[in-house]
Amino acid sequence: MADVEELLRRRLAPAFEAVAGAPVDPAIRRSQHADYQSDAALALVRRVGGNPRDIAARVVERADLGGLCSKVEISGPGFINLTVAGEALGGLLAEVTRDERLGVPLEAAPETITVDYSAPNAAKEMHVGHLRSTIIGDAAARLLEWRGNTVLRANHLGDWGTPFGMLVEHLLDIGEAEAAHELSVGDLNGFYQAARRKFDADESFQERSRRRVVLLQSGDAATLRMWRTLIDESLKYFLAVYDLLGATLGPDDFYGESFYNDQLQSVVDELAELRLLRDSEGAKCVFPEGYTNREGDPLPLIVRKSDGGFGYAATDLATIRYRLRKLHATRLLYVVGLPQQMHLGMVHATAREAGWLAPPARAEHIGFGSVLGSDGKILRTRAGVSVKLVDLLEEAVSRASAVIAEKNPDLDEQTRAAVARAVGIGAVKYADLSTDRVKDYVFDYDRMLSFDGNTAPYIQYARARSCSIFRKLDVTPPRDVDSVLIAEPAERELALALLSFEGVIDQVSESLEFHRLAQYLFHLAGTFTTFYDKCTVKYAEGEVRTSRLVLCDLTARTLQIGLDLLGIETPDRM
Ligand code: ARG
Repeated sequence: MADVEELLRRRLAPAFEAVAGAPVDPAIRRSQHADYQSDAALALVRRVGGNPRDIAARVVERADLGGLCSKVEISGPGFINLTVAGEALGGLLAEVTRDERLGVPLEAAPETITVDYSAPNAAKEMHVGHLRSTIIGDAAARLLEWRGNTVLRANHLGDWGTPFGMLVEHLLDIGEAEAAHELSVGDLNGFYQAARRKFDADESFQERSRRRVVLLQSGDAATLRMWRTLIDESLKYFLAVYDLLGATLGPDDFYGESFYNDQLQSVVDELAELRLLRDSEGAKCVFPEGYTNREGDPLPLIVRKSDGGFGYAATDLATIRYRLRKLHATRLLYVVGLPQQMHLGMVHATAREAGWLAPPARAEHIGFGSVLGSDGKILRTRAGVSVKLVDLLEEAVSRASAVIAEKNPDLDEQTRAAVARAVGIGAVKYADLSTDRVKDYVFDYDRMLSFDGNTAPYIQYARARSCSIFRKLDVTPPRDVDSVLIAEPAERELALALLSFEGVIDQVSESLEFHRLAQYLFHLAGTFTTFYDKCTVKYAEGEVRTSRLVLCDLTARTLQIGLDLLGIETPDRM
């Protein structure tokens, strides 16, 4: 344990408890007046009585802060100001630098976690919502895996249902070879829209499409083969997007809606047996507790439609049952846009009422807002159709290439291409992950590619600088040290930043609020930059020099792991 804030909390908690007669959260925060401050004494007045300054004094008197703090002061109405001893920081840093994982432990009780993410719809262009899901879900999968959990990536591809009747008929009309070609070049929208136009305009095509859905659902071999062609060509396109993005989603992670097809009837049967199904206008529905419309009437989750067909909800019920019963997942994450909050809430509530979802297992909707264009509306291309994802990403890379060429004209072409990719894709991901995910954000190439401000290139550059010192001085990073000298204010700030990584990782593993990790990395990069300007490494000698090298190395490694967890590459020079 090298997390300073947590160490302070553990030392203060027993003292607070003794004074208050019950457990108290010491509420320790970074402060401008000292390294850390606790304001918990103020809140104790009602319980303990008396004056908060006296309460704070009694806590301090009892607390064992020896070896950790060099100064403890009561200030204002009853704040406890804590200054951490330089030797304590140095000892903790030495401990961290010896550890590959930088002091961040594996989860004490690892779990099986499903991450439902990306989930585009076959034979349809991925939209920016799928981009967000892919970026956020991938970061979640990376982080939770790094903590030692078993992570199952589940790409809940939309590959089943009524649209496929129309799509298969369109494929028949234009010929399989032509269809495969259109889809493989990524013209998914063109294909989908052509089918849609015919469906809307031509009644006989509509009729053919309906018959085709029935054939598909009854397992007709020829229909299934054509359906498979559509799916396979779409998968190739999606995999190319994942490759460009550097997402850790592969061909084995597709668990599309069709995968659950033969489990749907048994979902109906089981819910009927549990007496959770009710008829509503010919459809079979569940009415989960707590979901009502404006008039206060219970809202239905349609499990089986009046025409006997199954839809999105039935599939999600089969999916959650499968994840719980067959995969034995205890944490089920759904990285899906906020518009589906109600749907997922009802699915999860139904799973609880059916007894499938019970503690310790829990399901969490990791919701997110929209990506907006500069006009403040949902991002679209000029033609008004949704943006083709590959184009969006490729443009980010080509703009990054121009920025890099200007910044560092000496890079050879091959290195520049690799750096441009890392920076361009990294910038897109970082822009997404650094905003509170439940909010919308504006997609702005210039801002995300800027080297100033809270951006990927800024942090990547800080890391490249912290690596370059070892090349320039031709030394290897000292990793086996007994202590690190912390004397200058800039060294102290950097030490405190480095020693709060573990706390941030813990918090984000739970909340999956990646903007907190992003904010941390941005702060660390800034703190390093100040340190690097104020404290010379090159002209320092002896222990001071070694200590500063440790600080550079730890910065590089912390930024490296942090960016890795966000799925962002870290070029050594740029
Ligand atoms: N394919 C869906 C869409 O594009 C997202 C699926 C999300 N996952 C789920 N289990 N429902 O909206």
